Amino acid sequence: MAQVFEATCSAPVNIAVVKYWGKRDTSLILPTNSSLSVTLSQDQLHSKTTIRASESFTEDQLWLNGKQESISSNKRLVACLRETRALRANIESKDESLPKLAHLKIHICSENNFPTAAGLASSASGYACLVFTLATLFDLRLNASELSIIARQGSGSACRSLFGGFVAWEMGQNDDGSDSKAVQIAPETHWPELEAMICVVSDAKKGTSSTEGMQLTVKTSPLLQHRIKEVVPRRMEDMIQAIKDRNFPRFADLTMQDSNQFHAVCLDTYPPIFYMNDISRAIIRIITEYNKSGVKAAYTYDAGPNAVIYAPRENMPEIYALLSHYFPGAAFADSLGMLKEQKKDWTP
Ligand code: PMV
Repeated sequence: MAQVFEATCSAPVNIAVVKYWGKRDTSLILPTNSSLSVTLSQDQLHSKTTIRASESFTEDQLWLNGKQESISSNKRLVACLRETRALRANIESKDESLPKLAHLKIHICSENNFPTAAGLASSASGYACLVFTLATLFDLRLNASELSIIARQGSGSACRSLFGGFVAWEMGQNDDGSDSKAVQIAPETHWPELEAMICVVSDAKKGTSSTEGMQLTVKTSPLLQHRIKEVVPRRMEDMIQAIKDRNFPRFADLTMQDSNQFHAVCLDTYPPIFYMNDISRAIIRIITEYNKSGVKAAYTYDAGPNAVIYAPRENMPEIYALLSHYFPGAAFADSLGMLKEQKKDWTP
């Protein structure tokens, strides 16, 4: 029987506090601005991937949440496979004793424990997990920033899930993407009181994918040009400082302002894109009211209606009670675990 090589890993989601929206190169996935995110614990939301390689497999195959999907029609997945196989082939060419894995066909089985494509960063954890599992299978021995360059080509935001804690995606200057990578600003242990609550307003698949949405925004929104030139560079610096100082009111103001501007840019896109719904907007009003006596919580929304609330742990019970009072029927999955170094949880 042919030998089977196997690796299984799991990876967490990250939720941006300075949003990435817009590509300057759509195939390499190079962004029009740098971004910054917080990696959540894996307790509530994660992707888990098993990859097997064997001489007996006749083609590459993929199962996503139990359903078989095409690999060849997914250019980004093909790019991640091509890059990791090329690196493995290079290692094998230098060491004759290594098993020849680069030419083997593989079977990929990946699952999210939360709704896919509902604006809950499933592509971020999914591609981070894929690339980390491939790197484990092929024993690539790259550091997290080097791996982030490959994961970025699967889904931009995925590059930030390679680190725990507070992570910047530096947009880079080079045309080949070699300097467009994730770096850790501070580990999760830096600010253990900070927690995130996920409010699942809707688990329906989003109407406009982030890829389509970004392309339309880059083509049509004058506000995006203002954002990338005049706002984000300064905001990145301010956000990094707020995180270093563990200054929650400053962190919260910047987070909410950036979420608001991202959705304003979506509205400025023509035709406009709406990701938030009435419940999302009601949650913004509730948090704004709650913050009147001092900033105690920050909301942020990605490309979907679901809210993520960042707050110090001591405020979470009050926030949960407040939101449940207004929306008793809504499903709230709270992610109250401490932010963790996710690499320890990855199980090769
Ligand atoms: O990586 P993508 O294509 O899923 O885009 C993610 C975009 C946002 O989630 C809206 C913002 C971000 O920085 O994660």
